[in-house]
Amino acid sequence: MNRIESPAASTANLQLRQVGKPLVRTDSPTKVYGTAVYAGDLTMPGMLCAAVLHSDRASALLRHVDTSRAEALAGVHCVLTAADLPPSQGVMTDMPGQTGGLTKNTKQPILAKDRVRFCGEPIALVAAENAAIAEQALRLIDIEYEDLDGIYDPFDALAPGAPIIFGDDNVVASYKVRKGDIEKGFAEADFIVENTFTTQYQEQAFLEPEAALAWVDEHEVLNIRSSTQVVEHYRAVADAIGLPHNRVRLRAEFVGGGFGGKEVMTIEVWLALLALASRRPVQLVQPRERSFLSHGPRHPFTMTHRTGVSGDGKITALQIKLTSDAGAYAKLSPYILLYATVGATGPYRVDNLHIDSVSAATNNLPACAFRGFGTMQANLACEGQMEEIAKLLGMDSMEVRRRNFIHTGDANVTGQIIRSAVWSDQCATQALATLGERPTDTQTTRIGHGVACYQQSYGRIRWMKDSSEAWVGVEMDGTVIVRSAVTDIGAGQSSALAQITGEILGVPMDQVVVYFGDGAVTPLAGTSTASRALYMSGNATKMAASQVRKNLLSCVAGYFGVKIEQLDMCDSQVFIIDDPQRSIALKDCVKLCAAEGVHRHNLAIFRAPTSEGIDPETGQGEVFPDFTYGAHAAQVAVDIETGEVKVLKSIGAHDVGQAINLRAVEGQVEGSALMGQGFALCEELILKQGRLQTGSLSEYLIPTSEDVPEIKAIVLESRSGLGPFGAKGIGEPVYAPVAASIANAVADAIGVHIFELPITPEKVIKALREKESTK
Ligand code: MOS
Repeated sequence: MNRIESPAASTANLQLRQVGKPLVRTDSPTKVYGTAVYAGDLTMPGMLCAAVLHSDRASALLRHVDTSRAEALAGVHCVLTAADLPPSQGVMTDMPGQTGGLTKNTKQPILAKDRVRFCGEPIALVAAENAAIAEQALRLIDIEYEDLDGIYDPFDALAPGAPIIFGDDNVVASYKVRKGDIEKGFAEADFIVENTFTTQYQEQAFLEPEAALAWVDEHEVLNIRSSTQVVEHYRAVADAIGLPHNRVRLRAEFVGGGFGGKEVMTIEVWLALLALASRRPVQLVQPRERSFLSHGPRHPFTMTHRTGVSGDGKITALQIKLTSDAGAYAKLSPYILLYATVGATGPYRVDNLHIDSVSAATNNLPACAFRGFGTMQANLACEGQMEEIAKLLGMDSMEVRRRNFIHTGDANVTGQIIRSAVWSDQCATQALATLGERPTDTQTTRIGHGVACYQQSYGRIRWMKDSSEAWVGVEMDGTVIVRSAVTDIGAGQSSALAQITGEILGVPMDQVVVYFGDGAVTPLAGTSTASRALYMSGNATKMAASQVRKNLLSCVAGYFGVKIEQLDMCDSQVFIIDDPQRSIALKDCVKLCAAEGVHRHNLAIFRAPTSEGIDPETGQGEVFPDFTYGAHAAQVAVDIETGEVKVLKSIGAHDVGQAINLRAVEGQVEGSALMGQGFALCEELILKQGRLQTGSLSEYLIPTSEDVPEIKAIVLESRSGLGPFGAKGIGEPVYAPVAASIANAVADAIGVHIFELPITPEKVIKALREKESTK
């Protein structure tokens, strides 16, 4: 791993003792030893097993659902259908309602009532003594369907006269951006380049499928322990089934991968209903095949770029059309489309710009949040277009990028001024240089190099008025506790809070315990989504720890008769900076404070920057708090006989602002390299008439250990981010450019761009044949 600091940052006199170091994460030992507890590991006396019946029709009326045979089966405790839910309830909304409002109706039935809109829609729930009985009960439920015409293509859904899937029309969301003078921009262009890029459904394929346990406790509180990214869903569960908010306690266990798939409610509300109906603890771990139907994959996008460029590679005008397939319910599609719209020009400045984006309802699987959240699809088109422009002009594609990069102080797509560092060029240059020399082609293989840059937001949409709270306290023996309802979804979210607190209070991070992920007893921290957890909860924790530090130091200052500024904390000691022999153990300092009745703890709230929204006619306004910039480069070998693409090297170079845990940053880059490779080359949920054809991991192909290339992370630190110590969000950003870099490397290898992902061997061979025949 290389590491490059900002020259400004290195003179900033920051004396970080823990932050930025590749320390062992607090959650690592328990995961390595196999003692970490996940929701599927939990058991309770008298616990029942749940199972869910999913529709096997994509578009049909539910004429009759007969559960009598299932209910009669010995060992079955309850069978629930829509008929068992009070009419005022029975619907849930997918927006984690921590703050902020909705622009579109995202309501969806908990269980299908009169109609099913997609193949996989939940129809009935069973709780039984064990899993085998629950499965048997599912087979005894009789359903009478009456098939309806379905729509399986977003362009068909938008055509006049198309059957309506829900709401007034099939438009789930749409946005417009109007900026500058596009006619003038095209008139000034020497060339116009137009291409259409398409992307496929991608499944999160997390290691741990949906899992949760629910029960009603002795206080009549409904408890749910779940694999979720969002404990604030306790409100949505309560609202959906008509309980007061304070009677639902949702706790997030360690999550075995979320990637957006556990950002909306998945199985929690089903288990809540079964626990209330059976008055027993009920657990569900979705089998993989049903997991595919239980969250919501990445939206397929069709993206057309018509770009006007001058002879020297400057973009003079850009017209973009984005269409996404939302599937049968809105879920988060309006938000994801907004991300795609804001991300449509990538990390480039375009002054004359038209964007029209639309998300359409179909009878396909409802698509939802997935790492990158629309921005990465939009970025892929942008980066492919850069290569095509360069090819036409006979220029190096990095030169074209350099002519157009957005810089600090420029306005982005929505007119928001970028205030943090923009190190796109440095990152791309580093990543490409690290690829090194090309191996020589052989008779049957062609080597290609590709690079892609990106702009990805971190933090939630400004008008959601996001905030996060954290509590930090010192015990009488000098050990430290952090309380935060942040969910730990595997990226080191809780560990980072220990590291930040350890830094501020001068305590080794293994002496900090973080209680996290409890919607009832830890201060609410908001979602672990939108690359916001470190940014928001890191700041809140730093604020709380800093206040505790101040309180402790003011006591010690009095004790030594010095000023607070003369004191520092390290190795669980408070000492005088210029005379370190004069020191006091932290535990004695705590006692001193306790004796004087000084607070040894603090509850802090961090508030993100806000705005009131965007202008609907022009799309102008401030949408996100800030953006991360960087690049990924790939070296591929394409077998021109079989069409197979092998990734040899995969290099991520990112300005992370400030690494909190260098090893955790590296882990994000490594994981994203493989996930992006899967998206570029092999992963695709294939639907036929709405029916999933690749509904298990034997048909849905993710990269395996055999496909792992040489991966390298290059970490740049501008310390210009809005997070703690100048950190930026990186969870989604590091993923954003990977697939594009591979697509560009393939184009470089075979001399022709493949515009439709994934780049399967068949598409490579087809492209090579077409190239031959046009010669
Ligand atoms: Mo997400 S795609 O977990 O914001």
